[in-house]
Amino acid sequence: MKKKPLINVCLFPAAGYGTRFLPATKSMPKEMLPILTKPLIQYGVEEAMEAGMNTMAIVTGRGKRAIEDHFDVSYELEHQIKGTSKEKMLADIRHIIDKCVFSYTRQIEMKGLGHAILTGKALVGHQPFAVILADDLCVNENEGVLSQMVKLYEKYQCSIVAIEEIDPQQTDKYGIIAGAEIEPGIYRVSTMIEKPAPEDAPSNLAIIGRYILTPDIFDILQRTKPGKAGEIQITDALMEQAKSGNVIACKFNGKRYDCGSIDGYVQATVELYNEMKNN
Ligand code: G1P
Repeated sequence: MKKKPLINVCLFPAAGYGTRFLPATKSMPKEMLPILTKPLIQYGVEEAMEAGMNTMAIVTGRGKRAIEDHFDVSYELEHQIKGTSKEKMLADIRHIIDKCVFSYTRQIEMKGLGHAILTGKALVGHQPFAVILADDLCVNENEGVLSQMVKLYEKYQCSIVAIEEIDPQQTDKYGIIAGAEIEPGIYRVSTMIEKPAPEDAPSNLAIIGRYILTPDIFDILQRTKPGKAGEIQITDALMEQAKSGNVIACKFNGKRYDCGSIDGYVQATVELYNEMKNN
């Protein structure tokens, strides 16, 4: 019998405004911005599927309906292109729709990433789950980043965050961790700070948009006070778990593009384009 995956659900906080891409994101969700022909959120869903997940829980907001339509059949369009050379262009998304269940809830007020994740509680229930921030696009030739993290979860059975070394001057853009290295590239986290100034940062190890969270995080989030920028921060809630040694950070294999910034978005587009041309 096939082993049941330990983590089935992946949560996608997708309520943010995407102001850095205005006016493109005025009426289109930032998660729908394409890299080549695929929207960012589809890359995330594919990464979650590769890690064994089949339930995609999406926290949306006003103006985000295009995401729901994307993960649904479009009978008219499919009828139009049936039997033509274009039919294959919908094969991947069709496969996703066949294999996954999608559920949605709306975040009514923007009170931070921690609040968005807490909003997803109704969709996740009481089980460990993954979180993908779709504007961090992660690629790896072999195993996806979330797959690597699921393996670590099997071993450590606690919350896991993906990290990478960043320029020490950029710490105020990320959650920053510090801890003891217990295996090469794997840390037991002792400190986490949301977006510290370089002089206050405990290291240059930055959290990127991939998490595996144990369900006690919801209770912690419920009592987490607004932190940086007056928002409820997932980093602060994770710090509570870290106090009892229950957060592991891993330097992942692969490359991450910050597609929430124009530089990262263009870089991802160019590099994935070159890769496509060379294959
Ligand atoms: C969020 C988190 C931050 C993390 C980052 C990764 O920040 O709050 O800790 O390092 O995602 O992309 P945001 O980029 O949403 O401001």
